[in-house]
Amino acid sequence: MLKIIVLLAVAVSASHQYEPDQQLLFYSNYTKCPIGILTTTFGAPIEITDATVTLNRSLMRNPFVIEGLQHLVRQNIPERVVHAKGAGGFGYFEVTNDITHICNAHLFRGVGKRTPIAIRFSLVAPERGGTDTTRDVRGFGVKFYTRQGNLDLVGLNTEAFAFRDPVNFSSFVRTLKRNPSTNLRDFNMLWDFALSRPETLFILAIVFSDHGIPASYRNMPGFPIHTYDVRNKRNLTNFVRFLITPDAGTKNLLNEEAMKIAGQDPDYHTRDLYRAISNGEYPTWTLSVQALTPEDVKKADFDVFDVARILPHDKYPPIPVGKLCLNKNPINFFAEIEQLALCPSNLVPYILGGVDKMFESRIFSYRDAQLYRLGANFNRIPVNYPIQTKVHTYTRDGVAPVNENGRDGPVYYPNSFNGPQPYRAKNRQEITQIYEGPSYNFDQLRDFYENQLSAEQRTRLIENFLGTLRRVARFLQEKAVKVFKSIHPDLGERIERGLFGNRKNTCNK
Ligand code: HEM
Ligand SMILES: *[C@@H]1O[C@H](CO)[C@@H](O)[C@H](O)[C@H]1NC(C)=O
Ligand SMILES: *[C@@H]1O[C@H](CO)[C@@H](O)[C@H](O)[C@H]1NC(C)=O
Ligand SMILES: *[C@@H]1O[C@H](CO)[C@@H](O)[C@H](O)[C@H]1NC(C)=O
Ligand SMILES: *[C@@H]1O[C@H](CO)[C@@H](O)[C@H](O)[C@H]1NC(C)=O
Repeated sequence: MLKIIVLLAVAVSASHQYEPDQQLLFYSNYTKCPIGILTTTFGAPIEITDATVTLNRSLMRNPFVIEGLQHLVRQNIPERVVHAKGAGGFGYFEVTNDITHICNAHLFRGVGKRTPIAIRFSLVAPERGGTDTTRDVRGFGVKFYTRQGNLDLVGLNTEAFAFRDPVNFSSFVRTLKRNPSTNLRDFNMLWDFALSRPETLFILAIVFSDHGIPASYRNMPGFPIHTYDVRNKRNLTNFVRFLITPDAGTKNLLNEEAMKIAGQDPDYHTRDLYRAISNGEYPTWTLSVQALTPEDVKKADFDVFDVARILPHDKYPPIPVGKLCLNKNPINFFAEIEQLALCPSNLVPYILGGVDKMFESRIFSYRDAQLYRLGANFNRIPVNYPIQTKVHTYTRDGVAPVNENGRDGPVYYPNSFNGPQPYRAKNRQEITQIYEGPSYNFDQLRDFYENQLSAEQRTRLIENFLGTLRRVARFLQEKAVKVFKSIHPDLGERIERGLFGNRKNTCNK
């Protein structure tokens, strides 16, 4: 079914280019005349009177009215608890460099080889109708429909995560959401959390810096973050971090521009992506890997598995692998993007996944979220279906879509009646075990502040920090000064001056 959708998209986009506001004109152009007779959902034709006037007639006997009302109140499904606002598209991944000596996953075998992909970009905190230019971390999730099943690299636009212990994740998400009483964003929660898990401040600093608001999704990088355990063509272990860099360059918006845009067009990034693709300006990204041998891991003077850290590029230079290109808009946003179920646990042979606890928690949580918001058969929804493989499972039934539901085959394993059989591996691939300590990344925050920001960028970072810190309780402001001073004296002192500099004129209860 997805194949049909994809083919239609090709046929449609090949005909010509259009602006997002012209989509309906575009539709009426290529359909030429009404596409058919209006029917009920059970396929019966609807008579003109039933569709236009119901006064003085039986409502219960009019399926156009009743189906319309009943379906309307059932059309919403739970939005994603995080990353609810998003946009996405379809295209392909093409191998440009052979990395099978690092990772032998089928999709990497052979320069020039193409694999269909779906990408969903998102904001973390805002609800489904949120504003695109909000200062926030962004999601960058890719589904590769490979010949050995779907591989999902579900990353962010920050090169590290806020902390490494999944025990804190559900609380963290609630601090990003609304205060239960005021129903407003409340920065007391965020700062209270961040200051008690200060490794969070590194990501917070990136988000509050000039890197916090992408100019467009086309100008946004993606980082799957976790250090993945992968196997090469000799089945030897390597570790990689995947990096996705926009070929159009990484570009961001400053506060003032972003706020102006927010007022004019809350869907600015969504529109930009749709427009670029519908006008044939297909955005591309380069996928690369930072590769480490087990010896490199032993030699490293920091924990390369800590998701709160970046792996320095000078030490572990990115090796290009291929290009990601988006050349198709969704034809139906709900079917293809809202129902897209990106799942870090979707892994393929030779890519065993992140070895850390955060990854383990994600293996559980995304499936759980998708079972809740899309139902037991979410992988049978066309956009999630592994179109390049044949699926043979013993699972049956459940809420729709069940598709062929395993037809007339046996429903138990093992069986003597030709049900699907597991394959035999010569060398079973077992994931590497690690032991984890607490995160340490203050050196990175120091380096970011000292060496990666210009004087003006430092000033803007502090202004942006102050914008929210001025709104929180006095004791949190004091704690912030203390924690920031311990990380970087200049940063701490400037925040102190910004908060308390003019003590005489400040009326703090
Ligand atoms: C304890 C760690 C984490 C947990 C439990 C968690 C949980 C979740 C959940 C429940 C969703 C909603 C999924 C859906 O409804 O389809 C989600 C979405 C997402 N998360 Fe996480 N997350 C965690 C950490 C991370 C990290 C470290 C990254 C990046 C490396 C990340 C990137 C994303 C992205 C990109 C999405 C959007 C997926 C989509 O567009 O369908 N998350 N996360
Ligand atoms: C619709 O078709 C007309 C005539 O071919 C063309 O000029 C116009 O650009 C098309 N509009 C869209 C939005 O496709
Ligand atoms: C409904 O019935 C009334 C009374 O017979 C009639 O005056 C009116 O025109 C009818 N309305 C329609 C839309 O047929
Ligand atoms: C994270 O979880 C640990 C264990 O429950 C707790 O001690 C710590 O205070 C939490 N940190 C934050 C910032 O919630
Ligand atoms: C490597 O491992 C895979 C998966 O277990 C197996 O199919 C393959 O035969 C192995 N190759 C070698 C060279 O051992």
